[in-house]
Amino acid sequence: MAKMWAGRTDGVTDKIADDFNSSISFDCRMYKEDITGSMAHAAMLAKQGIIEKCEADRLISGLAEILDDINSGKLEIDMACEDIHMFVEEVLTKRLGDVGKKLHTARSRNDQVALDMRMYLRAETDGIISRVTELIEVLCDKAEEYADAIMPGYTHLQRAQPITFGHHLMAYVQMLLRDRERLSDCKKRMNVSPIGSCALAGTTYNTDRRFEASELGFDSVAANSLDGVSDRDFCLEFMSACSILMMHLSRFSEEIILWSSWEFRFVELSDAYTTGSSIMPQKKNSDMAELIRGKTGRVYGDLFALLTTMKGLPLAYNKDMQEDKEGVFDAIDTVKMCLDVMTPMIATMKAKTENMKKAAQGGFINATDLADYLVKKGMPFRTAYKISGQIVAKCIAEGFVLETLPLDIYKEYSELFSEDLYEDISLEACVERRISEGGTSVASVKKQIEDARKLK
Ligand code: ARG
Repeated sequence: MAKMWAGRTDGVTDKIADDFNSSISFDCRMYKEDITGSMAHAAMLAKQGIIEKCEADRLISGLAEILDDINSGKLEIDMACEDIHMFVEEVLTKRLGDVGKKLHTARSRNDQVALDMRMYLRAETDGIISRVTELIEVLCDKAEEYADAIMPGYTHLQRAQPITFGHHLMAYVQMLLRDRERLSDCKKRMNVSPIGSCALAGTTYNTDRRFEASELGFDSVAANSLDGVSDRDFCLEFMSACSILMMHLSRFSEEIILWSSWEFRFVELSDAYTTGSSIMPQKKNSDMAELIRGKTGRVYGDLFALLTTMKGLPLAYNKDMQEDKEGVFDAIDTVKMCLDVMTPMIATMKAKTENMKKAAQGGFINATDLADYLVKKGMPFRTAYKISGQIVAKCIAEGFVLETLPLDIYKEYSELFSEDLYEDISLEACVERRISEGGTSVASVKKQIEDARKLK
């Protein structure tokens, strides 16, 4: 069948070329945006006297019917069409006759597709933002539950200093708060209307771009028509924000995987978010966390594919840009799916606080506090640091930990040691003393939770 754009050519293309060229199999998911965009366009054309008011009314109710029919399943999207824009226009013209052919006045598919993408993405960005918010809330609740559960904090994956599990979880809350802010921020630049840029140069018709934009909930209009149809940095910004978000989910997943291992046994995931092995009966695998970690690579790939597509394109529209959609859609689907699994997985995760505590007790993670004890009694920090190190070596050699090493041995290293040192190096005291803003003391963690909950 000849294409709607038949004219200079007969519009008959080779079947393989047709399939290659077509985007309807994936851009069909923007049908709502395409139709609502067209309704606003018809209204603008009538307001400006470019078409008759009664024509616009017919176009708008025809479009509304198409939308209802697709929603109800009465109208099936025809995969033989080139793209969703052509499909809607073809159905409209079939149903209304010649008036349908007036819809595309003062418009091009180039600004139309940019409009649809922006509308689609802005709604999806909101969906992701609300999912991130749910995860933040779940993490705050967990952090509150475990605000005083002592665990080892690590650097280089070596036990470093005692912290609380609540404190550790709140670190992720901070990352997610920034992710949420990045997503809202990129919405500002996304919410600019390209419609009216037309093919590339603007139009000779007396259009009202601002009216059309505000009908569709945009904050402003693209200031340059070439940029309006050529720019995909709103997609790139969105996928960058998604990539950073996924990187955070991936790091968290990695910790969950480690913590659920028999070596750590710090957390127990609910059976609902784990799998078994087909051969090893003892297994309880953290597949969901592993998949979130794995899918992170895919979202990075989506970002890099589009960055690469865009890097050599001359202005204005080039068909290469049709390649923006699958990556963006994949990033949206992947991020949403990961958050939908992550949130209930965390909500149902239980900490094994006894094991955390045991691990915290075994690793000399109060050695800094031992040095601080001597400093408090008047010794210079470097000397105190050295003596504490020697005492740790002694403990390792003789099978003690700092809490169990007898006072007379301590005294061999310094006369400043007395009975009160044991209270001072208890893990609880070590945690409680870290009262600096953002530190691990219970009060500080509770303050972090309170502040995070206030941010909306
Ligand atoms: N399907 C196309 C896309 O996604 C729509 C724009 C087509 N414009 C054109 N001049 N061929 O990019």
